Amino acid sequence: MLIDTHCHLSYETYENLDEIVKNMDGIMIASGCDDKTNKEVLELVNKYDNVYGTLGIHPTEIDKITSDSFKIVEDNLNNPKIVAIGEIGLDYYWINYNKDKQKEIFEYQLKLANKYNKPVVVHSREAIQDTYDILRKYNLRGSIHCFSSSLEMAKEFIKLGYKIGIGGTLTFKNSKKLQEIVKEIDLSNILIETDSPYLSPDPFRGKKNKPSNVYYVASKIAELKNIDINEVLFITNRNAIEIFDLNI
Ligand code: NI
Repeated sequence: MLIDTHCHLSYETYENLDEIVKNMDGIMIASGCDDKTNKEVLELVNKYDNVYGTLGIHPTEIDKITSDSFKIVEDNLNNPKIVAIGEIGLDYYWINYNKDKQKEIFEYQLKLANKYNKPVVVHSREAIQDTYDILRKYNLRGSIHCFSSSLEMAKEFIKLGYKIGIGGTLTFKNSKKLQEIVKEIDLSNILIETDSPYLSPDPFRGKKNKPSNVYYVASKIAELKNIDINEVLFITNRNAIEIFDLNI
């Protein structure tokens, strides 16, 4: 069984979404980023047994926040298939002009996670130190999704109780640094993900990604750690079930 711990699913991106979900040998956790995608996540988790979801406002979407935005998130956290708050975090790569507002929205959602005892799915791009400084103030768990920093920082997040989210970028030829991190850290600290429709792993780089491609991420981890892929899947699935309290 495969578990894609982070993807974005919508009928706008995938005209064959029903097929993609049905063909996934396992489960996927679809993340919302704004009002529209949060509502879509809620529809999908109701429609499909093997789709779980997370709700949140992504740092690049904070200019779209409406009076309803946090209500949609908060009102649905008691839905057993909404397993985390996310995708939330900081992004200084795409948006560099409103760091204070990003931090404020991030912290607001971390407080929600704290209040409802939910894990978080964290996005951090060119903002790793600020992300760390904020997360260390809260006693939460979750995933540092699509991890792209150093081994030292990975270890710091692990100490805080987070798992390191590893996706298709691991398979790229120029990903030596991430590959070293995967070799160094214990499998018990890793979650696998696709971030579909983005970041397709080799050999599909450049094409639209899909949750079943999480297999290629697991396969690369197996190669790097010189272990069997079934061991990678067994342990990373166990990590996902534990962190997101998946009822499977
Ligand atoms: Ni994402």
